[in-house]
Amino acid sequence: MATGTPLKILFIASECTPFAKTGGLGDVVAGLAKALRADGHDARVLLPLYSFIDRHQFGLRLIGSHCIHMGAKIEHWIGLYEGQLGGTVPVWFVEYESYFGRIGLYDGPHGHYQDNSFRYAMLSKAALQICKDRDWIPDVMHVHDWPSALAAVFLKTWDRIASPLSNTASVLTIHNIGYQGVYPADVFSYIGIGDDHFHPERMEDHGRINLLKAGISYADAITTVSPTHAGEILMPEGGMGLAPFLNNRRADFFGILNGVDYTEWDPATDKLIPANYTPGNLAGKAACKATLQQQMRLEVRPDLPVFGVVSRFAPQKGFNLIRDALPPAINHMALQVVALGTGDPDTESFFRWLEQTHPGRAACHIGFSNELSHLIEAGSDFFLMPSLYEPCGLNQMYSLKYGTLPIVRATGGLEDSVQNYNEATGAGTGFKFIAPDANALRNTIGWAVSTWFDRPHHIAQLRRQAMAQDFSWEKSAAQYVQVYQHALDKKRGAAV
Ligand code: ADP
Ligand code: GLC
Repeated sequence: MATGTPLKILFIASECTPFAKTGGLGDVVAGLAKALRADGHDARVLLPLYSFIDRHQFGLRLIGSHCIHMGAKIEHWIGLYEGQLGGTVPVWFVEYESYFGRIGLYDGPHGHYQDNSFRYAMLSKAALQICKDRDWIPDVMHVHDWPSALAAVFLKTWDRIASPLSNTASVLTIHNIGYQGVYPADVFSYIGIGDDHFHPERMEDHGRINLLKAGISYADAITTVSPTHAGEILMPEGGMGLAPFLNNRRADFFGILNGVDYTEWDPATDKLIPANYTPGNLAGKAACKATLQQQMRLEVRPDLPVFGVVSRFAPQKGFNLIRDALPPAINHMALQVVALGTGDPDTESFFRWLEQTHPGRAACHIGFSNELSHLIEAGSDFFLMPSLYEPCGLNQMYSLKYGTLPIVRATGGLEDSVQNYNEATGAGTGFKFIAPDANALRNTIGWAVSTWFDRPHHIAQLRRQAMAQDFSWEKSAAQYVQVYQHALDKKRGAAV
């Protein structure tokens, strides 16, 4: 039974697991769409058909072609493919070779693709055209971050009146305000809306175009991915230049904690780990730890705590703290470190150096590996996530389910999902610190290590408490339905 009236919802996104993923955005698009379907809503997803998506493996089939009209009388003929997510959610893929037939999503071997604003403007416009051509008119278009934000703008401009979409509301979810999609203004004529929209109160940003700001100005409702982060980005520092515009939209702005897709992330059923386990029987966790240590060429030592890292190597994640805190920690404390990630070259070199200088005690894999990310979650004892800011964060929630105690900075979704250890009672689910500095991180690692050796009964208790946490999508999906309703009321009220 759907929460309220069943809705038609189109997600327009640049990532969706398992088709295309660089971080949590892909997991959230997939998990939320599946949860809405399970709740009786007609949720669908529209993605670019990147050339790395294996059409055969995913059983994609060509279902049509559509003409997308951009500004300055430019037309693109795109191919439309259809596939399925989780056996329930229809997924549309926009095929347009010269925009999406590339090896990366946003970046290639020479860095950021220079025409990203054009690529995603076309994707956003295509979403509207496809719905009209196929006579599938959504109640809500749910757009995610800067890449699809322009769909909210098109609904308020090209399709505002006398369009089958004139009653369709838009919701923008801000997954990461650190990436705003700021590009040269030459894309504006391609977007093809009146000059009055190129205004500092709408989408102009110091002579350039800011796509996230555009979404904030035009969407009927806006969300971000945790309640604490919603408060943070209304403040000047957290808002990274967009706080005044978000404050203008305060009545339509909500923080909803991400969920976890436990069909993918549950140690009791995970097919990617060597042994399954449950809170009642952790033998499988010990086996996963031994496999992780072997596979990563660490000494196989059940007695030493393993600290895991799985992350985009981006400044947001607090790698400046890790780079200063880990060398003294590993030199003075009995622990092992295993890291998986890719990105910032300094952080990549740091982990390579740590491995070379501490053979058997530190190991890294520079790259992207879904399989190894599951093994690290299962085989580690602690998970390091000292983010400078974290809109939500999924890895700490995965860690909780795997009984791998997160060590986090108290910010954004980390604050909302991890309860600090209380040494007097053994309450809590992880270890938290506040100051964004390396000493605070090092001390907290020390606190975790001393708990490991001196109070093993508390480690067992914290694990039980962590594994009992439930962040399944159901609750968050119901909150999104309320936001969709808010956006619809607003849109339909305003349309009269
Ligand atoms: P963000 O979206 O900021 O990167 P999240 O914690 O929300 O952070 O989500 C990160 C997601 O990306 C998780 O599913 C994590 O396992 C995955 N991930 C990040 N880096 C890698 C990697 N190098 N290999 C495999 N998975 C990764
Ligand atoms: C972003 C954020 C992360 C969040 C993810 C999914 O990339 O950095 O905190 O969990 O999006 O919403």
